[in-house]
Amino acid sequence: MAKPLSVIIDTDPGIDDAVALLLAWASPELNVLGITTVAGNVELEQCYLNAHRLRQLASRMTPIYSGCSAPILKPLQVTHSIHGRDGLGMSWPRVDVPKSTQHSVDFIIEQALNHKNSPMTLCMLGPLTNLATALILCPEIKEGIKQVVLMGGALESSGNTSPVAEFNFYTDPHAAAKVFDSGLPIVMSPLDVTRQTEVVASWLDAIRSLDTPVCKAVYEMLSAYRSGSGGGLHDPCIVAWLIAPELFTEKRCDVRVEVCGDREGQSVPEWKEDGKVLSLTDVNVDGFLALLKNRIQSL
Ligand code: BDR
Ligand code: CA
Repeated sequence: MAKPLSVIIDTDPGIDDAVALLLAWASPELNVLGITTVAGNVELEQCYLNAHRLRQLASRMTPIYSGCSAPILKPLQVTHSIHGRDGLGMSWPRVDVPKSTQHSVDFIIEQALNHKNSPMTLCMLGPLTNLATALILCPEIKEGIKQVVLMGGALESSGNTSPVAEFNFYTDPHAAAKVFDSGLPIVMSPLDVTRQTEVVASWLDAIRSLDTPVCKAVYEMLSAYRSGSGGGLHDPCIVAWLIAPELFTEKRCDVRVEVCGDREGQSVPEWKEDGKVLSLTDVNVDGFLALLKNRIQSL
């Protein structure tokens, strides 16, 4: 097998973030260097706690860092309507949560500088605040970043937070604009593709019947997600692309992110063959759900 891809996962768990993290941990194709948390779906402290809950569930030792507690300019607005009061939609056993030994932004900078000779992948599942801040503090990190793969934006699809904007970009549009203007290679998984992965009852029942602690938790979290206004398995799509890109189709474009007015957080594509952004456009849903089930049951 090829050498595993070195990846940092930046996340605001969040139920779909939780499933994405479990998929990554279950996948030998990925070497997860660290989890960097950021405020988004819930407040930062809760995201940091949730990441520890998930790491314990998956029996992993990946270091976890606490990051930016608010978007660059906007106040953080947490609604709790999709991910429940504490972000994971279910009750959890007690877990020890040590103080973060480093800020998420410092960890990203340190790792990128260390990876100049073998650039790493950044997998972004929440608002892009940590990465934008890292780019402002230390632009040289670009040399150590092979690619930024991210869940965010809505290109031809409508928004899920405003009529035109997706949640991660709407929450911190300035950060998204900074990342898209950075010149870094970007692979984007927008709502256009992630909405195709609506959780179906038969799949969820199959997960429940596997009866492992991880499958039971996934069943509980996704049952809560379905009964709220969760929609697709947004964040797991981009992790699945890293593992099995053959499940997706893609198209190139340049993307501009609007930062103010009614259009804040909107991602506007210009489709062109030499576009700097590779956007996922369609997914083989059965293949995606089969991959997810197989990997999750192996944990
Ligand atoms: C994105 O917003 C969050 O609620 C999800 O975790 C996902 O990252 C979807 O718009
Ligand atoms: Ca997320």
